[in-house]
Amino acid sequence: MVHSTDARQARTEWWLFTEAVGVVLTWLALAFLAIVKTTPNGKSIRARWEFYLSSAFLAFPITCRFLFNIDSSLLNYLIIFALLLAFAEWKNKKQKIWFPRRACDLDQLPRRILEFNGSGLDDPAVKDFVYRTRRNQIGSIALTHKHGQTIPRIQYNKEEVKTWGVVYRALRQLHARHACKEYNEGFALLEAHCNFSEHTIPQLEDISNYLEKCTDFRLRPIGGQLSSRDFLAGLAFRTFHATQYIRHGANPFFSVEVDACHDLLGHMPLLTNKKFADFSHEIGLASLGASEETIKKLDKCYWYTAEFGLSKEEGRLKAYGAGLLGCVKELQFAMESNEAERQAYDPSKATVYTHPDYGFQGLYLFSESIQEAMDKTREFLQQLLVDPVQ
Ligand SMILES: [Fe+2]
Repeated sequence: MVHSTDARQARTEWWLFTEAVGVVLTWLALAFLAIVKTTPNGKSIRARWEFYLSSAFLAFPITCRFLFNIDSSLLNYLIIFALLLAFAEWKNKKQKIWFPRRACDLDQLPRRILEFNGSGLDDPAVKDFVYRTRRNQIGSIALTHKHGQTIPRIQYNKEEVKTWGVVYRALRQLHARHACKEYNEGFALLEAHCNFSEHTIPQLEDISNYLEKCTDFRLRPIGGQLSSRDFLAGLAFRTFHATQYIRHGANPFFSVEVDACHDLLGHMPLLTNKKFADFSHEIGLASLGASEETIKKLDKCYWYTAEFGLSKEEGRLKAYGAGLLGCVKELQFAMESNEAERQAYDPSKATVYTHPDYGFQGLYLFSESIQEAMDKTREFLQQLLVDPVQ
């Protein structure tokens, strides 16, 4: 009798021990999922929901056991099954990097846009509910757009056209002084062929058709910011993901989020340039299936050239980066302020610089010419592909 009681107690203790181990393993798995589901630039909306669902699934049996005192061997099996799922998820994440293999695979990218966390920012675009509703409505077009379809036209309202006009006029004055020759040439083409003017917001479909003829590039609508990997993957298919919504009218000269002013006024002119379009394509190709480390390096190369690059023209610094040429305040800061730091572009050094997500960059890298910046980057890409650790 005594022996039987001891044996039962021993079984209970063993049972409690294995249960405690199960709880610890489950929550370790949850913490691990939280890490692997975090992308380098923040969590994507899809990843966030995947994480919540995985967490709920893993936590369910534990919750049943502790809150409702349900003791069933079925629950043990559920815990083991959930842990196996978490392990399979980790293996999958580690082994298979998803990237588009055909242009139609880009249809998946609009669902992978990054979540914008601007709650701490004092910006009208973040707090205006009516504005965000309109912005999201325009952005949602990307979700149903498929490869090869005509890009839907936006009926912009008076407020949006007014904001575009204010930005357009201010930028064109600055472009005359600070933009490089290649950009101004491209801008003239867009004014002549794609309805670029201070009175009209050009439509993506028109620009896409024109770019396709000029440089074999095309546009796709997007509802927000993509991760570096996904954005670069688009370039690999000579596709630029462009937003259609316009920034908030209360702050036209600086926007914390990408919008049509940045994408169209900043990026489009140089995409009419064959050499620059090819350069963008090559960075995109290098990104397909690349490791996270390599993606970070490619992103920095793109950032300090296509987004914020400066080049010399007859001894004077000019801007060719879209982050400058599509933003009044930052263009003035980068080109006219003594506080801006300017250094020679070296891709291997650029890959270790850090830059703020919101606000002025502060550091801008210049080359003797855009051609030199492209050549240096190509050389770096070749070394990177041979030895990704360098
Ligand atoms: Fe950009």
